Amino acid sequence: VILTQDELKKIAAYKAVEFVESGMVLGLGTGSTAKHAVDRIGELLRQGKLSNIVGIPTSKKTQEQAVSLGIPLSDLDNYPTIDLAIDGADEVDPHLNLVKGRGGSLLREKMVEGACKKFVCIVDESKLVKHLGGSGLALPVEIVPFCWKFTANKLQKLFQGSDCVAKLRNDGEGKPFVTDNGNYIVDLYLKKEMGDLQVASDAILRIAGVVEHGMFLDMATTVIVAGELGITIKDK
Ligand code: A5P
Repeated sequence: VILTQDELKKIAAYKAVEFVESGMVLGLGTGSTAKHAVDRIGELLRQGKLSNIVGIPTSKKTQEQAVSLGIPLSDLDNYPTIDLAIDGADEVDPHLNLVKGRGGSLLREKMVEGACKKFVCIVDESKLVKHLGGSGLALPVEIVPFCWKFTANKLQKLFQGSDCVAKLRNDGEGKPFVTDNGNYIVDLYLKKEMGDLQVASDAILRIAGVVEHGMFLDMATTVIVAGELGITIKDK
C-alpha cells in the first residue's frame, strides 16, 4: 500500500499522542500535521481515556480547533512551564534542528515550545533534509510591518553569500500576510547553505525590525518520522 502524505502525518501525530498522560499541560502545535494530534487528544478526552489536560495553543487557528473539540485551554502567563508540546516542522536536519513557520505561526510556536520540558516534533519523511534551508523552500522571518522593505533588504544582504532572495509573504489576495501578532513574514530563499546556524540565528535576531525567525535550534527533544517503511523515533 502506498500511503498519502496526509496519512503519514496522521501516523506520526497519533504516535506522539501516545506520550500524553492525564494531568499534563500540553503545547498544541499548528499546521496540517499538528492538527491530527490535536484531533486525537480531543478524541481521547471525549472517550475518557485522558483527563485533566490543559492545552496551550500556538496559534489562533489551533485555539479554535481545540475549543471546538472541548479541550480546556490556558496560556503561558498561567503555565510558564509546559510538560509536552507536539508540533510539525517544515524541515528537520540530522541534529534535530528545525525550520518552522511556513504556516506563519513561528513566534507563538517558539515561545510555547521554548517553555516545554519535552518537545516532540512530528513529520512525514519528506521533511528530512541534510542542511536547513536546503530543500529549496524558504526560511521564514517574522518582522514588524513598519518599513518592512528596509528590514527585508537587511535580511537579504545578511545572506548575500547564499544568493538569498527575500520575499514578503502575501495572503494570496495581493495583500501582505499578517501573523496572529499583527506582523509580516519575509521568506528567505537561500541557494547555498547558511553555514553555522547559531551564528546565522544571532545575526538575524540582531536586526532591528526582526521579531523572530523560523529556525528552531536545539529545541526538539524527539522527532517522530513517519515513512513508507514505518515510524522512526529520533531522540536527542
Ligand atoms: C506553522 O507555522 C508551522 O511551523 C508548521 O508547524 C509547519 O509549517 C508544519 O506544517 P505542516 O504540518 O502543515 O507541514
